[in-house]
Amino acid sequence: MNYRIITAQEAAAYINHGDGVGISGFTLSGTPKTVLPEVAKRAEEAHAAGKPFQIDLYSGASTGDAIDGVLTRAKAIRFRAPFISNPTVRNAINGKEMAYCDLHLSLMAQDLRYGYMGKVNVAILEAIDITPDGKVYLTTAGGIGQTVANLADKIIIERNTYHHTMGLHDVYEPLDPPCRKEIPIFSASDRIGKPYVQVDPKKVVGIVEVNMPNEQVIFKELDPVTSKIGENVVNFIKNEIKRGTIPATGLPIQSGIGNVANAVLKGLEECDGIPPLDLYSEVLQDSVIKLMELGRVKAGSTCSLSLSQECLKHVYDNLDFFRDKLILRPSEISNHPEVIRRLGIIAMNTAIEADLYGCVNSSHICGTRLMNGIGGSGDFARNAFVSIFTCPSTQKNGMISSIVPMVTHADHTEHDVRVVVTEWGVADLRGKCPDERAKALIENCAHPDYRNLLWDYLKIAKSGHVSHNVAAALGMHAAFERNGDMRTTDWSIFA
Ligand code: COA
Repeated sequence: MNYRIITAQEAAAYINHGDGVGISGFTLSGTPKTVLPEVAKRAEEAHAAGKPFQIDLYSGASTGDAIDGVLTRAKAIRFRAPFISNPTVRNAINGKEMAYCDLHLSLMAQDLRYGYMGKVNVAILEAIDITPDGKVYLTTAGGIGQTVANLADKIIIERNTYHHTMGLHDVYEPLDPPCRKEIPIFSASDRIGKPYVQVDPKKVVGIVEVNMPNEQVIFKELDPVTSKIGENVVNFIKNEIKRGTIPATGLPIQSGIGNVANAVLKGLEECDGIPPLDLYSEVLQDSVIKLMELGRVKAGSTCSLSLSQECLKHVYDNLDFFRDKLILRPSEISNHPEVIRRLGIIAMNTAIEADLYGCVNSSHICGTRLMNGIGGSGDFARNAFVSIFTCPSTQKNGMISSIVPMVTHADHTEHDVRVVVTEWGVADLRGKCPDERAKALIENCAHPDYRNLLWDYLKIAKSGHVSHNVAAALGMHAAFERNGDMRTTDWSIFA
């Protein structure tokens, strides 16, 4: 098959108002770079002419400003799933200018196949190349590439010659029920699929030539609070190995994205009580590349190389070292509950807030404002060997406590949250009744400024298996919304 080489503008002309568009990529990695900004221009022109132009956009996870930001500013997105992190799109969703479905990332490809969302009319895949018989070699992320290519009527390839990921991908799409079989991954480094996405060459409307890096990943510097949380998590894992609950050979780790995740990974650099581990995760950050070079991480299975531009270049320059250590999987597999449960993952994710019994909110500030979404945290938390949630004990200069009587939005229930860690310590909730969990969370994790306030809440709670005062349960949030500081909470009005 001879494919047409087309411009990004010509490619964008294949996308019409009302279309569902599925794209490759996961976070800032592996997403197409040039066609969607042209779609934004088409939308702006249509709107200026008084015509409607909006698409439904499906991806593996969030994208960067070049996609979510640009399209949102052009008012070109009607519906978005399954995760966001860009402030422009966040504001549009919270302002009800855009519909958004917050979804476990493992479910995204499956939900599209099951017909739970709209049709995928067009798929745009960023690839290092496509062969005449339709083998598409993706760049820096697995995402939902195979699924959207199967479902779409038209496929656009962005051939990005900047990237050198040949041989890193392991593309495997499970059959749907009732034909689903086991996913035969028995260790993080197992390869079970093909190194390419297979597409029908007849659907390919053209190739857009590109040479561009991924958008730059910005890391915040570690501070004393995040460093202390990292130290607490590392000590917890070390103690679990010492007392034999985690085998001496270790178990694979999953680590979310962000500051605390980086602090934990940093703590693994020089830790004599923890053997070299595998990573089975949805993202792989710069810190893991360093751990691989130090021999502290053996294999890194991930959906996305969420690396800074410098670090990605370093990987490309040293591919002979990394090729057999890095495995890029579709998000449906990197986050699959079956594999996570089988491998026995040590899962580490970040909470916005946790309540006295261990329920965690990962996604909504004060119960209403979306931050990013649940992402993969639920895929891992429910199915992990041990599920750890971390967070600083306070936010906004101490005016918000992250440990509260009741979470304002429940992403992970007390049944899935096994350990909570703040800079003050570790609340091990396993095998504890609700009262014991509350005690561990107040004494080990809450900031000292809030401990009495939380004990006082329990004094006005109606006693039961789980003690609560239903009128006062969100009283600390109400005090924050009223006075800008949770420390002003007055329980006497509920007593
Ligand atoms: N109340 C109000 N604001 C809060 C808050 C709370 N209880 N907890 C956090 N925030 C605010 C912070 O103040 C900060 O605001 P800013 O951007 O204005 O500075 C922002 O939320 C981010 O918090 P931060 O402490 O910097 O943490 P982070 O960058 O590590 O992000 C999550 C934390 C929870 C938002 C992030 O981990 C997330 O989106 N998780 C869900 C997805 C997920 O877990 N994926 C897992 C696999 S990658």
